[in-house]
Amino acid sequence: MKKRLFSGIQPSGDVHIGNYLGAIKNWVRMIEQYECIFCIVDYHAITIEYEPKEMQRRILNAAAVNIAAGLDPNRCIIFVQSHVAEHTELAWILNTITPMGHLERMTQFKDKAKQHRENINAGLFTYPVLQAADILLYKGKAVPIGEDQVQHIELAREIARKFNMRYGETFPEPQEVLSEAPRIMGLDGKTKMSKSLGNYISLVETPESIWKKLSTAVTDENRKRRTDPGNPEICNLFTLHKHFSKKEQIDRINVVCRSAEIGCIECKKILSENIVEALTHIRCKYEQLIKNSDQLSDILHAGAKKCKDIANSTMAEVKKKMGLV
Ligand code: TYM
Repeated sequence: MKKRLFSGIQPSGDVHIGNYLGAIKNWVRMIEQYECIFCIVDYHAITIEYEPKEMQRRILNAAAVNIAAGLDPNRCIIFVQSHVAEHTELAWILNTITPMGHLERMTQFKDKAKQHRENINAGLFTYPVLQAADILLYKGKAVPIGEDQVQHIELAREIARKFNMRYGETFPEPQEVLSEAPRIMGLDGKTKMSKSLGNYISLVETPESIWKKLSTAVTDENRKRRTDPGNPEICNLFTLHKHFSKKEQIDRINVVCRSAEIGCIECKKILSENIVEALTHIRCKYEQLIKNSDQLSDILHAGAKKCKDIANSTMAEVKKKMGLV
């Protein structure tokens, strides 16, 4: 029996190379080894302001990009959270054993509450409980995520432990799995690459747009003139080179940047070519998939159907243990 893996992504904007390097690349890598369930978490996405008319397109986009990036629906389950009502049912139950104090400590809640002062709703506050329900509903053991989600997985573990103590052994404690790039910074070099901050390169960005975005991206800010030596260690784009460029190129840049033999523009051109090369097949596959929304819907509904079976059986067990029969 393979161990079960669960992870999710919000349909809240373009899927970007931070999502890819921090999570999706690991998802693809782990498909063989685990029984994988990937979820497009639309109920999480509605905790911030959004345009209802846009949501369906965003969900299909997220599905198409992830499939194009390597989530083969014949080898894993991919589905939409709101298609399986048991997520919110279990979340309600888990709400009753989650201390308010734990939720108040969540850094993502604090950040989002600052960003969306006009809409600090209860859903934003209990967001991590729904995330715990997502994982525990399937008794997921491995959860590949970026660094920003680690605190939520720690809470999911605590919630699982608490449920097991109160009602009897039911849930395994989920473990986060981090990639070698758990926190990719945005092109501004200052904040985490993020869908909402617009500081990203999307996974389906065109070559022209990749170059346009990189050409204005922040590098080593101490390097004011072309003739100044640069410091790759503090250059955000050098980090991206480490993930997209060939070893010889990385080694060379590490030397010629420091000696000012190469300028930032030339260095960015090399990076741009390598990112284009890495993403082209994803963009082409995405463009084919997105043309056929019926086929995408079929994939998502088939995924939800498989999830329903697992979810029903977990909920029956949970309710029985809780005396809710
Ligand atoms: P979301 O949609 O913000 O991001 C999806 C995945 O991408 C990772 N990620 C990053 N990794 C490295 N560098 C970055 N700049 C970067 N930005 C995003 C995220 O850590 C995440 O792994 N709450 C989750 C979705 C979720 C979920 C779940 C995840 C809901 N239920 C259950 C795991 C298990 C979120 O907002 O991810």
